[in-house]
Parts: sequence; structure tokens; C-alpha cells
Amino acid sequence: MQLRWTSVSKMRPVVLLTLLLYSSLQAQENSFTINTIQMVSLPSWEVPNGHNLTLQCLVDISTTSKVRPQHLVLFYKDDVLVYNVSSREHTESFFIPQARVFHSGRYKCTAILNNKEKTTPEYPVLVKGVPNPTVTLDKMEVTEGGVVRVNCSVKEEEPPIYFKIEKLELDRKDVKQKREKNSNHNFVQMDFPIEEQDHMLVFRCQAGIMSGIVLQTSEFTRSELVTVQESFSTPKFHVRPPGMIIEGDQVSIKCTVQVTHLVREFPEIIIQKDKAIVATAKQNNEAVYSVMATVEDSGRYTCKVESNRISKVSSIMVNITELFPKPKLKIPSRYLDQGKSLDLFCSVPGTPSANFSIQKEAMVLSRDQNFSKIAEERDSGMYRCTAGIGKVVKNSDPELIKVCETLSKPKIFHNTEAELIKGHAMTISCQSINGTAPVTYNLLKATVSIQTLTMYSNLPATFVDEPTKDVEYQCMADNCHSHPALYSEILSVKVIAPVNEVMLSILSSNEVQSGDQMVLQCSVKEGTGPITFKFFKEKENRPFHETILNGTQAFWIEKQASRKQEGHYYCVASNRANVAKSTSIRVRVFLAPWKKGLIAVVVIGVIIATLIVAAKCYFLRKVRAKQKPVEMSRPAAPLLNSNSEKASDPNVEANSHYGYDDVGNDAMKPINQNKDPQTMDVEYTEVEVSSPESHEALGTRSTETVYSEIRKVEPKNERFP
Ligand SMILES: *[C@@H]1O[C@H](CO)[C@@H](O)[C@H](O)[C@H]1NC(C)=O
Ligand SMILES: *[C@@H]1O[C@H](CO)[C@@H](O)[C@H](O)[C@H]1NC(C)=O
Ligand SMILES: *[C@@H]1O[C@H](CO)[C@@H](O)[C@H](O)[C@H]1NC(C)=O
Ligand SMILES: *[C@@H]1O[C@H](CO)[C@@H](O)[C@H](O)[C@H]1NC(C)=O
Ligand SMILES: *[C@@H]1O[C@H](CO)[C@@H](O)[C@H](O)[C@H]1NC(C)=O
Ligand SMILES: *[C@@H]1O[C@H](CO)[C@@H](O)[C@H](O)[C@H]1NC(C)=O
Ligand SMILES: *[C@@H]1O[C@H](CO)[C@@H](O)[C@H](O)[C@H]1NC(C)=O
Ligand SMILES: *[C@@H]1O[C@H](CO)[C@@H](O)[C@H](O)[C@H]1NC(C)=O
Repeated sequence: MQLRWTSVSKMRPVVLLTLLLYSSLQAQENSFTINTIQMVSLPSWEVPNGHNLTLQCLVDISTTSKVRPQHLVLFYKDDVLVYNVSSREHTESFFIPQARVFHSGRYKCTAILNNKEKTTPEYPVLVKGVPNPTVTLDKMEVTEGGVVRVNCSVKEEEPPIYFKIEKLELDRKDVKQKREKNSNHNFVQMDFPIEEQDHMLVFRCQAGIMSGIVLQTSEFTRSELVTVQESFSTPKFHVRPPGMIIEGDQVSIKCTVQVTHLVREFPEIIIQKDKAIVATAKQNNEAVYSVMATVEDSGRYTCKVESNRISKVSSIMVNITELFPKPKLKIPSRYLDQGKSLDLFCSVPGTPSANFSIQKEAMVLSRDQNFSKIAEERDSGMYRCTAGIGKVVKNSDPELIKVCETLSKPKIFHNTEAELIKGHAMTISCQSINGTAPVTYNLLKATVSIQTLTMYSNLPATFVDEPTKDVEYQCMADNCHSHPALYSEILSVKVIAPVNEVMLSILSSNEVQSGDQMVLQCSVKEGTGPITFKFFKEKENRPFHETILNGTQAFWIEKQASRKQEGHYYCVASNRANVAKSTSIRVRVFLAPWKKGLIAVVVIGVIIATLIVAAKCYFLRKVRAKQKPVEMSRPAAPLLNSNSEKASDPNVEANSHYGYDDVGNDAMKPINQNKDPQTMDVEYTEVEVSSPESHEALGTRSTETVYSEIRKVEPKNERFP
């Protein structure tokens, strides 16, 4: 059998397929089992980069058949099938010649036999080390401002590869420039600009590859040497005259540069002092700054030579010796009163003879050392002077002079009438028409300053105040003039308090006995006099009493009150500020007890008279009809009985029962009346007295007119038992 299988490999594929089919048929008849499967790495699981590596899959199979069965062996790297083989052998190998970092990973193998399958665990394979990269350059010689193209590659490995390229000066450790890049090829190309400080350059490259989570790096590979040629030299300064430079000297500051033939066009030359450019040159190898020296020209000068990226700089300190110090302008004072003398004097400390001039703004006032005039307001302004010795002319510091015109007496005025209603705001204005601004105004209220305003023109200053009582205002104005502050006239303001809380009251009780004195008082809580008080009775258009007083209350007196005075009253108070009305009160006038008595006596008299007349009639009828005496005696008894009841009780008002339907309540009425007289309306009524219905049965119908007082009980008392 063994021999036969060795020859199989030489057979044609058709025959091989037939044989495989046959063997699988055979396998179905017999029993097979995969006992174990394992993987071995030769020489080890970790190999150095470039070494050969062999992964072996060992499959142990048991079978009832005499022949070892045909099975499939599959190799996986990171779950991806990398190699498969059909085999009858115990061991199958996967050979990796010159293993690289990209070969690192997790390997496993699987054996498949019919429908049976077994897989090994995953084995990590690590290829250690990254091959050194190759560095190539596009040129060996370069000019400043040029570019060197560097190509770094690792042919053996597969991307992604991380490259790091560094630029160094020969024999120097420090890296001048470093560039890094992750490449999707196994090479990278980067450009390095050549700068002014570069001379002999070397580039070096390092490659890095991720295996798992670890970055493996190669060693650095150095390139060949690159020589850098200067395009132009570092600039040089030439200052003339040499040695000490004194103010007034003509000074020349020159900057030169040497340019190599390699450069097509001249670089630009710039001379700077601090930030300012003082001279430039473009088509020349030198630039010159020429000036008559002054102290201000002292300082550091810088010369820059620039051609696209290349810029070379040098600098120099220029000292210029002062010929004389700058002049000083002496002024009398910052503020000068109008009419005073304005004396200006220009001098140079330590130098008596010089050419002087004094100026106000752009105007020359004097070509002398001194200047004098009588100050006017328009002389205010900025003054300076100059001093010149030879060609050197110097300016003094400027001096600001303000000529102050005295203020005119301030005027005070206000926007309201002479009288102000309390609680209203008023505007008080102060103004000095003449006088130099700014003017400071102080508003005095009863000699105390309450507000201050500064006006930058001669327009009025306006203050707002809310006085609560009569007050005097005054303005105080001041400006830069030495004259003391000026005061305005005094402004007196009268403040009128409006009348408020008008109240009408009656002295004593609201119930007035007729014939007694009745006094009404109208008062206000506050209000400036004179106040007009008007007393009104409701429903009457005209006041029944009117008075003008300086006080806060007014009275109206009625010596003898009568029913005419009963009713509702109110009063109205007014002054120059406002009019206010009180609430109304109710006044009642009741009858005096002796008047009631008088009426009662009159009524009783009338009744007695009536009875006498009635008795007379009775006796006359008795005489006429002697035959029927019994029948006539009966009706007289209740009438007499009723009258005697009334008369025996002095508290009961005569005929009081006429206001009531229920005669049975008579006994309670006196209590009612005495207890609560105020709740009853007193009315004097003309009453038509008619006999009670019970009397009708007798046929005696009589009608009399009497004056009686009827007391109507208020509804609530009607229920009173
Ligand atoms: C690696 O294998 C190749 C054949 O594939 C062989 O020529 C070479 O000698 C082997 N290298 C080593 C170091 O064994
Ligand atoms: C096994 O490998 C061959 C080439 O060696 C390939 O044609 C075939 O598709 C592979 N089989 C599987 C299942 O990947
Ligand atoms: C860089 O060098 C490698 C190998 O020398 C080469 O394959 C590649 O094409 C080069 N790249 C460029 C951009 O020249
Ligand atoms: C300029 O003057 C300063 C002091 O004012 C001095 O330190 C410096 O050395 C001087 N430089 C030259 C070039 O004269
Ligand atoms: C101002 O100058 C005049 C001559 O132009 C001179 O007579 C006078 O003394 C000077 N005054 C002062 C204060 O220097
Ligand atoms: C002042 O100016 C005059 C004429 O401009 C000149 O002759 C004279 O020398 C100057 N004096 C000084 C001290 O510079
Ligand atoms: C203000 O000045 C003018 C002239 O400058 C003068 O006519 C006027 O009387 C002055 N007014 C006051 C209030 O002093
Ligand atoms: C109120 O008082 C003023 C003075 O305070 C007086 O002139 C005026 O006559 C008085 N008016 C009355 C009505 O008394």
C-alpha cells in the first residue's frame, strides 16, 4: 500500500480524484477517530527576522482499516487559511522561508476526516527584529534654500510601516530636523529643506512595524553625506564716520553682502532700527542709511538679507553723543487769569548761546528766548520752543496753558410757577453766560450744597429737586479763574401742600334734640392755607356754608336745630393745589319729651271731649227709647274699658297702637320704645282715625282727624315679641 501511494503523486489528476473517491468509500466502511492534534514550531515559536521557520501539524488517528486514512490538514494564521494539504501522513509541515515581522501572528491547524474535525489551540509566533532600512538621496550637493529628497525603504517587509527620518549635521549629535510618517508602502519619500545653518548634512532612517500591540523598530541607517553651499554671506555693517559720532554729524550706516554665482537674483537687503525699516536694496549687494545724527538715531540697527526661505541677520549698536540737552520752556502757570501777563522763557541748561524760537501750535510767536503778552482767553493752547546750535535743532516738551476768563454772576431760574405743589419735581437751572468753561455749579438748598454739576460749555446746568416745604435755592459757580466762587441771587420757592383727609364730623352725637345746638366740623389733616371749606347738605347743589381760613378746620353752628336740619352732610376743602371731599354723615333730629307730653295732653283732651259728647248722646237716646234699656248697655263697656287701659299707663304714647294690626302686642310696646329709640323713625303724621271694626257692629261710625306721633319700628324689631 505504501508503495502504491508514493506513486500516486505521479499520476494524472483524474486518476487521483478517482482514488480519493475510492478511499473515502473505504473510510465509510471502516471506523476512524482523530485522537490528538498538535502543532510544533521549528526551530521555536520565536525566531529572529530572516530565519527559516517550519510549523508542523501532528495528527494522531486510530482506525479499523489496515491503511491510514486520507485526511485534510489546514493551517490558519489569525483565523485566515494560509495552507491546506490532503495527506495520509502523521505530520504535515508549513514552511516559511526567511520569516518577517508580518509573519508574526496566532497560528493553528485543523484535521478533517470525513465529517470529523479537530483543531489545535492557537499558538503565537513571533518574528523578532525589523530589517535595517535602505536610505537613498536625490543629490549629494545642495545650495541653501534648496531641498534634499530622502527615500527610505524596507523591501523585505510588508506595509504598513512607520518611518522616521532625521537630519543631522556631520559629527554632531543634535537632530536638526525630524520627520515621521506611517506608509502604506514599504518605502517612504520625504523632502528636507536646506537652511542657512546647514553645512555638511547626513540623513538617517528608522523603520517600525507593529506586531500585535508592540512596535518593533529597526536600527538607524545613515545616508551618504550632503554638502551645502552658501547662496550669500552673512551681512556686514560699516558705520561712518568711525569713532565718536556727535549730533549734527552726517552719519552713514551701510550693510553689505557677498552673493555666490549660484544665485540667479540678488537677495533683498533691509536695514531696521527697532521695528522701523530705514533703508532697503534689491538689485544691489549693499544698502545705506544716511542721516544727520541726532540723539534719537542712537540705538541698535539690524541688517537682514532675505531670499525666499533664507534670511541672514547681523546687528550693530550706534552711539551718538549729545551736543546739547533739549530746551525747556518756562511758563508762569498751567492756568492763567485773563488780563495777567503771559511770560514765556526758553532756555538750554548749560548753553547760553543758541538760536531760539517760541511757538504756539504751528505758529511762531517769537524768534527770541522770551515772549510776553497780556493773556486773553484765546491764548489758551499748546506751547513749545526750539533751540538750535549749528544744524542741530531741538524741541522742548510741549506745555498746555489755559487762560481763564472770570465768570459772570450766575443766574438762577426754574421751570415752574412761583408756587410748587408738594411732591412735584422742579428743575432749577444755573448759568454763567461769560467765563471760561468748564464751569462747576453747586446748587445750595438752604445754604447747604446738595448737587454739583460740571458744564463744559456756557449752557445752563440743570438740577432736579423735589422740595417738601418752602425753600430757598442758590447757585454757586466756579472755574479755573483765581477769583473766588460766585453766588447767584436767592430763589425762594413756596411749596403748597394739597389738602388731604377731609373729614366732616358732628360735635356731640348724631342724634340732635330739636331746639338744641348743632355743630358741624370740617377738618383736613394737611394742607397749605388759605383753605376754602364748603359745607353741603346732600342733594343740594349749593353749599349752605362757606369759609376761607388759614387753619385746618372750620365750623358751622346752628343754634336751634329743627327737623329741617335732619339729613346727610358732607364738606369740601380746597386750596391752590387741589379740591377734596369728605365722606357724608347722617344727622337726626328728635322731638323733646315735653313736646311729646304736650301732644299727649292735647290728644287726651280731645278723647275726653269725645267721650263727653258720646255720653250726652247716650243719655238723649235713653230718654227717647225707655222701652229697650238692656240692649243698649252692652256695646259701651268695651269702649270705656279700652280707654281706661290707655290712660292708666303713662308710658304708652297716645294712639300708639294705630301703627299695629295686632292689638294683643300693646303690653310689649313700651319696652320696645324705651330700649331702642334710635332704631325708630320718628314721624309726625296727620292721621285719620277710624273706629275699629268691632265697633261697626254697633253701627256707630265716626271719623276724626288727630295729630299723633307714630313710631315705626324697624323691620328687625317687628319680630320682637
Ligand atoms: C533556508 O531555506 C532555504 C531553502 O528554502 C535554504 O536555501 C537556506 O539555506 C535555509 N537557510 C537556513 C539558515 O537554514
Ligand atoms: C487548498 O489549496 C489549493 C491550492 O493549494 C486551493 O486551490 C484550494 O482552494 C484550497 N482549499 C481550500 C478548502 O481552501
Ligand atoms: C524608493 O526606493 C525604493 C527602493 O529603492 C523604490 O522601490 C521606490 O520606488 C523609491 N521611491 C521613489 C519615490 O523613488
Ligand atoms: C554706546 O554707549 C553705551 C553707554 O551709553 C556703551 O555701553 C557702549 O559701549 C557704547 N557703544 C559704542 C559702540 O560706543
Ligand atoms: C527778553 O528779551 C529782551 C530783548 O529781546 C530783553 O531785553 C529782556 O531782558 C528779556 N527778558 C527776559 C526776562 O529775559
Ligand atoms: C543762529 O543762526 C544764525 C543764522 O541762521 C547763524 O549765523 C548762527 O551761527 C546761529 N547761532 C548758533 C549759536 O547756532
Ligand atoms: C459777556 O461778555 C460780553 C462781551 O464779551 C459782554 O458784552 C456781556 O455784557 C457779558 N455778559 C455778562 C453777563 O457779563
Ligand atoms: C392767612 O395768612 C396770611 C398771612 O400768613 C394773611 O395775609 C391772610 O390774610 C390770612 N388769611 C385769612 C383768611 O386769615
